[in-house]
Amino acid sequence: MSLSWIYTKDLKNFIGQKIIYKGWVWNKRSSGKIAFLQLRDGTGFVQGIAEKSTLGEDVFSDIKKIRNESSVIIEGEVQKDDRSPIGVEIIVKKIDILNQPEEDYPISNKEHGIDFLMENRHLWLRSRRQFHILAVRNEIIKAVREFYYNNNFTLIDTPIFTGSIGESAGNTFDIEYFDYGKVYLAQTGQLYLEAACMAHGKVFNLGPTFRAEKSKTRRHLIEFWMNEAEVAYYTHEDNMNLQENLISYIIEKVLERAKEHLIALDRDISKLEKIKAPFPRMTYTQAVEVLQKKGYSIEWGDDLGAEHETELASQYEKPLIVEKYPKNAKAFYMQPDPENPEVVLCDDMLAPEGYGEIIGASERIWEKEILLKRLEESKLPKEEYEWYLDLRKFGSVPHSGFGLGIERTVAWICGLNHIREAIPFARTLYRVYP
Ligand code: 4AD
Repeated sequence: MSLSWIYTKDLKNFIGQKIIYKGWVWNKRSSGKIAFLQLRDGTGFVQGIAEKSTLGEDVFSDIKKIRNESSVIIEGEVQKDDRSPIGVEIIVKKIDILNQPEEDYPISNKEHGIDFLMENRHLWLRSRRQFHILAVRNEIIKAVREFYYNNNFTLIDTPIFTGSIGESAGNTFDIEYFDYGKVYLAQTGQLYLEAACMAHGKVFNLGPTFRAEKSKTRRHLIEFWMNEAEVAYYTHEDNMNLQENLISYIIEKVLERAKEHLIALDRDISKLEKIKAPFPRMTYTQAVEVLQKKGYSIEWGDDLGAEHETELASQYEKPLIVEKYPKNAKAFYMQPDPENPEVVLCDDMLAPEGYGEIIGASERIWEKEILLKRLEESKLPKEEYEWYLDLRKFGSVPHSGFGLGIERTVAWICGLNHIREAIPFARTLYRVYP
């Protein structure tokens, strides 16, 4: 009878049975008669026990020479083991070493500098901590998609090449596009989602976006993934409610499905358990007053910096929504507040524990004349926005939307010090390798 190939996550269901295991040896310890192989297969970690008495002199001597990150196929028996975090171990009966590295694996348990680890990101991905982080990222993205499908949104994939700058002209990647001339890598898919929401009502996207930002901070990537949503007829208020519900759903599902990864990352779960809608809200004007009282030298009209955001958010256990910023601190497309046209109907959501802005949002200008004026004030070329202006000519309606930064969300939920670990291959100011 041929044996079944079983993944680590399912081993507990095969106690006492013979199985095939396909994976890698990430570490090894051996004595005269017994070797402890630390195995992984992409679904978890398990210990393999190899004994000289069962395997014979020759095989056991090969096992003792196994280098870290050898790939192996094992025939073995699953045995209950109460000391193991997954409750089982594998008694090795036969082993096939597919690839024994010719040299020692460069990443070991000792401390490595971050430059070395980033240079070896293609291998660093295999380390336990990195494995857990990207497993959480996977669950976050799954929850994001689910949230929209559960709420009757339609996925609209927005383009990467665009002639219409979506945010600000200062940090675009410019590309010569055949005879067309200069185009940009998308900073956002928002403008296209605005078009699509007039066809489908509730729409979302999820994809990479690009900002040639010269900022070398813990929160900035050059290429980052954003989830954006846009809804026809939604007001600023509806928009904020939607954001709260999305974040609450993500946290609920991650706690349900990825708790073991968060525990492995030493994340304080009790802090995440408190993240349930509704979230605290304050206006930008109130935020400036709070900061001034705390001694910050900030004037009404200044944008909030990272240190301001951290200070404001540190007063709450849940994400803080700051709304109604001055129009000059924000993008051209935001709808002025009818009660005070100096501010716009926008909000930023600031994550707790110093993780900064995870969401940028607003109601959009839906009247053509106001939009034209804002394009002019922002020195953006009207010709590139003819199609966008059409949306205000043909059945325009109030509409609102937002963008959620995936890596900042991953960094917050996993409790990471730096955003570069929140994405498989980070593109930062000084790094595009590997
Ligand atoms: O606030 P931003 O710039 O908003 C937009 O792009 C809107 N067009 C979205 C929309 O309304 N459809 O960016 C949204 C989020 C930020 O809150 C932040 O989480 C993330 O994207 N973000 C970055 N993440 C990593 N590195 C960067 N350089 C980022 N810039 C923005």
